[in-house]
Amino acid sequence: MTHGFETLAIHAGQDPEARTGAVIPPIYQTSTYAQDAVGAPRLGYEYSRSGNPTRDALQECLAALEAGQVGLAFASGLAAEDTLLRTVCGPGDHVVIPDDAYGGTYRLFAKVAERWGLAYTPAKVSDTDAVRAAIRPGVTKVVWVETPTNPLLGIADLAALAAVAHDAGALLVVDNTFASPYLQQPITLGADVVVHSTTKYVGGHSDVVGGALVTADADLGERLRYHQNAMGAVNGPFDAWLTLRGIKTLGVRMDRHCDNAERIVAYLDGHAKVGQVLYPGLPTHPGHEVAAKQMRRFGGMISFRAAGGEEHAVEICNRARLFVLAESLGGVESLIEHPGRMTHASAAGSPLEVPSDLVRLSVGIETVEDLLADLEQALG
Ligand SMILES: Cc1ncc(COP(=O)(O)O)c(C=O)c1O
Repeated sequence: MTHGFETLAIHAGQDPEARTGAVIPPIYQTSTYAQDAVGAPRLGYEYSRSGNPTRDALQECLAALEAGQVGLAFASGLAAEDTLLRTVCGPGDHVVIPDDAYGGTYRLFAKVAERWGLAYTPAKVSDTDAVRAAIRPGVTKVVWVETPTNPLLGIADLAALAAVAHDAGALLVVDNTFASPYLQQPITLGADVVVHSTTKYVGGHSDVVGGALVTADADLGERLRYHQNAMGAVNGPFDAWLTLRGIKTLGVRMDRHCDNAERIVAYLDGHAKVGQVLYPGLPTHPGHEVAAKQMRRFGGMISFRAAGGEEHAVEICNRARLFVLAESLGGVESLIEHPGRMTHASAAGSPLEVPSDLVRLSVGIETVEDLLADLEQALG
């Protein structure tokens, strides 16, 4: 029997514990496990880098929410990305990456993976033809996509890009951090691997750093699982438990994030102190139709250009009170930041450099009138 998203979020991988009936998966805070005989680990558990029941519960739940077969939880989103890259790519290979992506993802490709012989080409992921043109037939192993992109909220057509990648014998990898599986399930649109910074909406409470990979391909899943153990950047049991606790409310949180974001976009759009508002829910957004086709709603992230330029953007960020000035996103509390000087500073001078007058909002689930009042005073 298939269940709805909210049911899976609360129950997938989370049956009551066999021994005590504990309704919530216990935190198995152990590094190792007693073995019944040499070579006979109980239930297959031998060492917590290789396997841990709390992490298993999270992994099973993540796989179910992303409509995949295998879910794997890591120490951070970047640890998940690194494990994926070193599983599916080698020296001499090439990847296509977004020309607008999380700065840390860009840094991983440009400053780390390239030194090991992995070439990359940035392309506009909202332009399917541009991605096709960036592919080097036979050499490109991965087309890497964020949608919506961070921080410009560009939209990639996932079904079209899956066809482009597969035609070239490459994998389509989708960083689904901004949408969360509640708003968008890339695997159902043809993606091979979904990446998450579970630090964001999946965990949802800004209290834990983590990452995930999910795939529907059992063979690829086993290769990724092998590398998860071989490379060792696993999610710890307490972090897995916190993330699982957050996941239970993912659907209801996302709906409120979207409700609040829609009200704030309506307020910002056309405001005298605000230039362009970037939000895929706006009918004027170039990716609106694609977003409406592949997303349930348009999410809680908004970017906008400050009418008064870079200094104005910085002032807005500094004046905000309820919107906390901080990096990260996807928590219940609203955050504001200046991508050019904060999250995307590592992309300065690169093709991924972001406009200096850009402000990014992660809209939380507080009372929306309070958020609007805070923006009104912050805009100056
Ligand atoms: C879209 C996106 N992907 C990946 C990451 C990296 O995740 P982490 O910070 O958990 O390593 C981030 C972090 O901000 C992100 O925004």
